[in-house]
Amino acid sequence: MNIFVTGGAGFIGSNFVFHMLDTYPDYRIVCLDKLTYAGNLSTLAPVMNNPNFRFVKIDICDREAIYKLFEEEKPDIVVNFAAESHVDRSIENPEIFLQTNILGTQVLMDACRKYGIQRYHQVSTDEVYGDLPLDRPDLFFTEETPIHTSSPYSSSKAGADLLVMAYHRTYGLPVTISRCSNNYGPYHFPEKLIPLMIANALADKPLPVYGEGLNVRDWLYVEDHCRAIDLIIHKGRVGEVYNVGGHNEMKNIDIVKLICKELGKPESLITHVEDRKGHDMRYAIDPTKIHNELGWLPETKFADGIKKTIKWYLDNKEWWETIISGEYQNYYEKMYGNRGTI
Ligand code: NAD
Ligand code: TYD
Repeated sequence: MNIFVTGGAGFIGSNFVFHMLDTYPDYRIVCLDKLTYAGNLSTLAPVMNNPNFRFVKIDICDREAIYKLFEEEKPDIVVNFAAESHVDRSIENPEIFLQTNILGTQVLMDACRKYGIQRYHQVSTDEVYGDLPLDRPDLFFTEETPIHTSSPYSSSKAGADLLVMAYHRTYGLPVTISRCSNNYGPYHFPEKLIPLMIANALADKPLPVYGEGLNVRDWLYVEDHCRAIDLIIHKGRVGEVYNVGGHNEMKNIDIVKLICKELGKPESLITHVEDRKGHDMRYAIDPTKIHNELGWLPETKFADGIKKTIKWYLDNKEWWETIISGEYQNYYEKMYGNRGTI
């Protein structure tokens, strides 16, 4: 089996590469990644010499290069993680989100049609469902929840999902889609909530909580997510969407307080800053379908997962210190430098 993993130098993609190489010693895994600011080749260093692994620096929007690689490698399965993934950046500059997330998806699926494929899997997000109100804890996203997006990021992911389903119906492309909640764990880029708070707390820097910090996310340990995708590509039904959720709803402010506690840092570092525009209140997934059909359940409780994650960031300082000492400085200054406190 030859599996293309796009975006495999990013957070979830790299964890998926490791998971697949560990689980299937006879599979060939080809990672396709443009190495944007979010892609990090050093993450893949442990597998670079694995004979079953190949890394190709490539833009999924580059039709000619993608076709050439399909012709050469003849993949059986494509798992598309490649995307611009940060909501705040999409608010600043939506265009690259539409290019990579929608048009890049189109190029990959065109290649799948041209060269033939057993499965095209699109890694999507629960953000395509919009948000849920805080005062309705009885409500969850199911696969039938209407698409209703809030940010340029989620709109681009929803656009891609619609295109994936259209390619299935129109051309009979064998597709599946997974929509997961917020992931956390090793190799999470430090612009996202959990790694950003860990890095800032360790440096005794302010911890910028948007608004009151009452927004709820449903946290999924990245390894649990990788297992879910592994199951879907092998046993999931073609043409189906599967929601993947952690059953781990947490308010942002509680996560930041927990990180302070775990690191022995004072909560006085917490600074309430100007809220994100269009900020979604609550995400919560009902994973009944993937549980009933494929037997998947999240195995990692947040209390354990966050400890493991903090330990990983303590043990792998070099990985994230290199990132935050580079171009990231400019990003941080731009995003947080002028953000008013409340
Ligand atoms: P990430 O930003 O850490 O990694 C994205 C990777 O894609 C990077 O390695 C980057 O270099 C690569 N990439 C970007 N544009 C590319 C292009 N044009 N061609 C080739 N490679 C390109 O993202 P992540 O958090 O690992 O997310 C992976 C996928 O999962 C995304 O599709 C995202 O929408 C989805 N997702 C993420 C979460 C989450 O909590 N992180 C939740 C739901 C869904
Ligand atoms: P994030 O990690 O960007 O993921 P997403 O927006 O895709 O859910 O943010 C998670 C939550 O944390 C979200 O409600 C926004 C909030 N947040 C902060 O309060 N401060 C921050 O500095 C960041 C990056 C996020």
